[in-house]
Amino acid sequence: MTSSPPSPAADTVAPKRRLFVTTALPYANGAFHIGHMMEYIQADIWVRLQRMLGNEVHFVCADDAHGAPIMIAADKAGKTPRQFVADIAAGRARYLDGFLIRFDNWHSTDAPENHQLAQDIYRALRKAGLICERSIEQFYDPVKGMFLPDRYIKGRCPKCDAPDQYGDSCEVCGAVYSPTELRQPYSVLSGATPQLRSSEHYFFQLSSARCADFLRAWTQAADARGRPHLQPEVLNKVREWFAVDANGHGGLADWDISRDAPYFGIEVPDAPGKYFYVWLDAPIGYLASLKNHFDKGQAAAHWHAPSRTGQSFEEFIADPEVEQVHFIGKDIVYFHTLFWPATLHFSGRKTPSQVHVHGHVTVGGEKMSKSRGTGISPLRYLELQLDPEWLRYYLAAKLSSRVDDLDFGADDFVARVNSDLVGKYVNIASRASRFITQYFDGRLGFHGATDSMLEAAVALSHDIAAALDARDTARALREIMAHADRINAAFDSAQPWVLARDESRRAELQDACSRALAGFWTLSVLLAPVLPATASRVARELFGLDRDFVWSDCQRLPERVAPYRHLLQRVDPAKLQQLLQPEPPARQPEPPSQPGAAATIGIDDFGKLDLRIARIAQAQAVEGSTKLLRLQLDLGERDEQGQPRLRNVFSGIASAYDPAELVGRLTVVVANLAPRKMKFGVSEGMVLSASGEGSLFLLSADAGARPGMRVS
Ligand code: MSP
Ligand code: ZN
Repeated sequence: MTSSPPSPAADTVAPKRRLFVTTALPYANGAFHIGHMMEYIQADIWVRLQRMLGNEVHFVCADDAHGAPIMIAADKAGKTPRQFVADIAAGRARYLDGFLIRFDNWHSTDAPENHQLAQDIYRALRKAGLICERSIEQFYDPVKGMFLPDRYIKGRCPKCDAPDQYGDSCEVCGAVYSPTELRQPYSVLSGATPQLRSSEHYFFQLSSARCADFLRAWTQAADARGRPHLQPEVLNKVREWFAVDANGHGGLADWDISRDAPYFGIEVPDAPGKYFYVWLDAPIGYLASLKNHFDKGQAAAHWHAPSRTGQSFEEFIADPEVEQVHFIGKDIVYFHTLFWPATLHFSGRKTPSQVHVHGHVTVGGEKMSKSRGTGISPLRYLELQLDPEWLRYYLAAKLSSRVDDLDFGADDFVARVNSDLVGKYVNIASRASRFITQYFDGRLGFHGATDSMLEAAVALSHDIAAALDARDTARALREIMAHADRINAAFDSAQPWVLARDESRRAELQDACSRALAGFWTLSVLLAPVLPATASRVARELFGLDRDFVWSDCQRLPERVAPYRHLLQRVDPAKLQQLLQPEPPARQPEPPSQPGAAATIGIDDFGKLDLRIARIAQAQAVEGSTKLLRLQLDLGERDEQGQPRLRNVFSGIASAYDPAELVGRLTVVVANLAPRKMKFGVSEGMVLSASGEGSLFLLSADAGARPGMRVS
């Protein structure tokens, strides 16, 4: 019964768009918070729409790996910056998969492609005569042996003398100053009194007339298709940055793009000991991730027009037909609307088509703060088995094309999801399909003209596509739900439950239910960018398609329906409350019998541990140590050749166990502990055991557990 799948290219005559889409590259020094997820969900919805329309899309992101804060955080964690960043990167997929966010590629700004591209682009800027060298004075930490970024210097406010104020502004009196004005300055890293030292820095001459003229024109311009590069509110903000006051103050300043070693970053060519400031190489990471995607040969696989697949990365990125679209938050507009277009333009590259800016998420009206632990943990959301599509729907219903902030409210969330998704949308299918299954063997039948119904669906699909394309998801969902209301109202007024009692009115019954289901089909197509999993199930399980929906399915009618199976649950407000409870959850006072109980952690912290079942394949005493045993552990891992790989772990359990009795036992291992170099070799993990009162007990797993299984 599956009607032939329309080729995505067949539905409209409009030429297909070719899109390179990114979200901001998250700093690799922490887990994702709800703000990150919002940005990815906003972009993912947009990308899914474009794909459903048959457009060619390459949607990439990467970890932003470089910079002083990451270097310092790695140091604190006792890891190299590379290891630190790799550990963060390893956690990303859980979030992205969990919320149905489908990037084509995830890369890192520390990858070779980015080193190459950043250095090439810098050389081009130098050749264009836009790089100059200047000596600047900066605070230096003599204990740490490094120059200090402003936020790592504190002291007494020069205006009100309040202690412990940051290097740029006073939180007590609001004064703004430079770090050299602080009284009794000290390094946040070492406590030492910083010294003023001078050093040569490289600058990108943004203040030059060439740059200012280019940027003034670019920020106000539109792309080749007539879409403005910037939203009106963003342009207003950018205009303020250009403005020069009566005293000649303001306007664009040259941009300091180098930092001194030690720095985790990319080396400035021909300048030993100098590195690019992280914000120079970060956006270039967009290109690096795309290049990596192309070089892996995946770019072609996502697109089906053979004529396109021959393009190399450099051809694609320079192709005037290709639109380059960046999704970012309002805090990084300066970098993306001034530095980034200038960097691209003056290095001889194509500039972005659109920089789309969103506002920030607040929770219960409060700004999110990692340090204070407010906000909603996306991982906890998933672990409480809240449906990811609820969050996608809720955020989409609140997001518009504007830069406004958006508040996450629990009551609001419950009301939206339950009344819209369950009450209006899913209800149609559950009510109407019942009659079709019971009386018509699943066959839909329309007894009367369907033209106007189809015309209305097509018209609506154009409206919704336009709204989603403009990122006005709020308007799109309002219109979709208004359509759901109309379908429900028509179904109710036909009173199918009355018709069903009268054998002579079967045609009317079939018609009323078929129209409701045709409406449900249309709604599902239109909601697919927001609810990809549900839409896929509707297409495949309910309507028996052998593919997911494409946008042009709005021009068609379903023919059959399978017996209804549960699609979307209501939100249980109690569960949502659990999510919003401040973490850690209210804790009982510690009983005195628990000496040294550790501080409570959130589920997010626990989630960082990769605990695995391991089989002890070998155990040996370690020569020269009375405490350690050398264990060879099977975690079900394989090496590049596909051979079983054993991990070497040193464990301080020699006092309690005879090596021979351990072989073959199952135990629990911290598998993502950074490898540690010990006197006797490298330890690649940690075996868990209980200890107290002078004894030691290795943890074990019940029979049936297999090596490599995750422990949680
Ligand atoms: N690493 C830089 C971006 C480099 S892009 C070449 C960065 N990273 S970030 O992790 O701090 O932020 C990543 C994105 O998340 C940014 O677009 C930022 O605006 C967004 N958000 C951070 N907090 C947010 C909210 N509370 N709400 C919505 N988006 C938020 O900046
Ligand atoms: Zn002050």
